Amino acid sequence: MKVTVHRKAHFNAAHRLYNGEWSDARNAQVFGKCSNPHYHGHNYDLIVAVTGEINPETGFVMDMKVLKKLIEKEILEEFDHKNLNLEVSEFKNLNPTAENISVVIWNKLRPYIDKELEIAITLYETERNYVIYNGNESA
Ligand code: NI
Repeated sequence: MKVTVHRKAHFNAAHRLYNGEWSDARNAQVFGKCSNPHYHGHNYDLIVAVTGEINPETGFVMDMKVLKKLIEKEILEEFDHKNLNLEVSEFKNLNPTAENISVVIWNKLRPYIDKELEIAITLYETERNYVIYNGNESA
């Protein structure tokens, strides 16, 4: 029997969506306001889902105190109130779309969570736009 536990978190960050290979006009056409050269912010809502067997000794899939601290240390301290393009090394050459941010978050958390447990990242960039990444090559 597998159960999924979820932990929600929140961070504010600035970004600019931009493809350096393209003209400013094409960037503006494809990315719209998100390509503003002066950057802009989003209030990101993050949900980390952890799926696995219930540990018979604790009754937990994962200790939520541990998950909370892990998200704070590995993600919020790195991303909150930062300019993702300029201050987060993973996005130096990677467009900080919600898709790419989700993959980066998954990769940052994966080494710290028991291999027996599956993890999935849900990231809301706006109330209506969100992405899910579960680490699979194909969704
Ligand atoms: Ni944006």
